[in-house]
Amino acid sequence: MSSLKLLALFSLCVILRLTVAEDAGTSSTTCGGSPDPAPDAQGCSITGNFVFHSGNCVGKNELDELKARLQELSDRVSGDVSRRGESEENPAMSCREIFLSGSYTSGLYWVRLSARDEGAVQVWCEMGFQDGGWLRIFNMMAKGASTDQAAEMYDIITRNGPIQAVLSNTTSSAIYTQGLDLGMYHEVVYGWAKSSADVVSHYGYYRDDLGLKGHCYIDGFCGDNKVVATMTSSVTKEKKEIKTGNDPTYPHVGLGWSTQQITWGYDLNTSPHGHWANWYTSSCCLTGNTADIRDAGSNWRYTILIR
Ligand SMILES: *[C@@H]1O[C@H](CO)[C@@H](O)[C@H](O)[C@H]1NC(C)=O
Repeated sequence: MSSLKLLALFSLCVILRLTVAEDAGTSSTTCGGSPDPAPDAQGCSITGNFVFHSGNCVGKNELDELKARLQELSDRVSGDVSRRGESEENPAMSCREIFLSGSYTSGLYWVRLSARDEGAVQVWCEMGFQDGGWLRIFNMMAKGASTDQAAEMYDIITRNGPIQAVLSNTTSSAIYTQGLDLGMYHEVVYGWAKSSADVVSHYGYYRDDLGLKGHCYIDGFCGDNKVVATMTSSVTKEKKEIKTGNDPTYPHVGLGWSTQQITWGYDLNTSPHGHWANWYTSSCCLTGNTADIRDAGSNWRYTILIR
């Protein structure tokens, strides 16, 4: 037992004794009506609500409350109780809360579905990216350059699935937000990482103070060639109105701008080569299959994080 724990237990015992002694003075006549109750529990049992404790009659409810407080402190000091988010019984409000409470390692944690107590779900919290506390709702491993694979991506990101843990080395079959109260989330990252083991290095970002309910992709698809949000590219620092692809059969899926230069997704365009892109937005010719994507090989991924 650590000295801190001992001290805490000792302090609480003192408080318990003092509280008990104080109360005994005012409640002794209520307690069985005898000035000198027998030194056992029976001595106090006449009213039903009093018990004999350490030579005094004590309100039973009060004693129970004190005992509970002692137990709580004892649990906290012993460290047996899991930290917020580390068990289903002790879920956090969000990955952000888990990060702010001192858990800085990316991994599986438990979060509540909403502010009301509606159960918890195990999710992947990304702690190593941009001040930590991000919830991963989508992950897609690198794709080849083909119309079929663009169609597959279109299929996946235009669909939402039940909230669940999303690992960095798998490809999601939907954007997993169903069941989650998106009103509690305000920030979005459409990111690109150079491997499943790397954190996001290129991304588009936006924030909505009103929450993410109804947001395109995050909370359902809004249609082709529709504005998703004004996003900031981490690469060029530009802010641009970013739209969904203009035609899945073109194919052009994911996110793009102006005349639909793709910036996160796939664009066959007029080029014979497929273009996967990673947030270059400033000119047509930097869009798609940039050096970062080429150099990363076949292990890069797209991901969506919310916070
Ligand atoms: C994916 O990542 C998880 C957790 O990091 C690991 O346990 C699993 O073995 C990985 N799977 C593959 C196919 O690499």
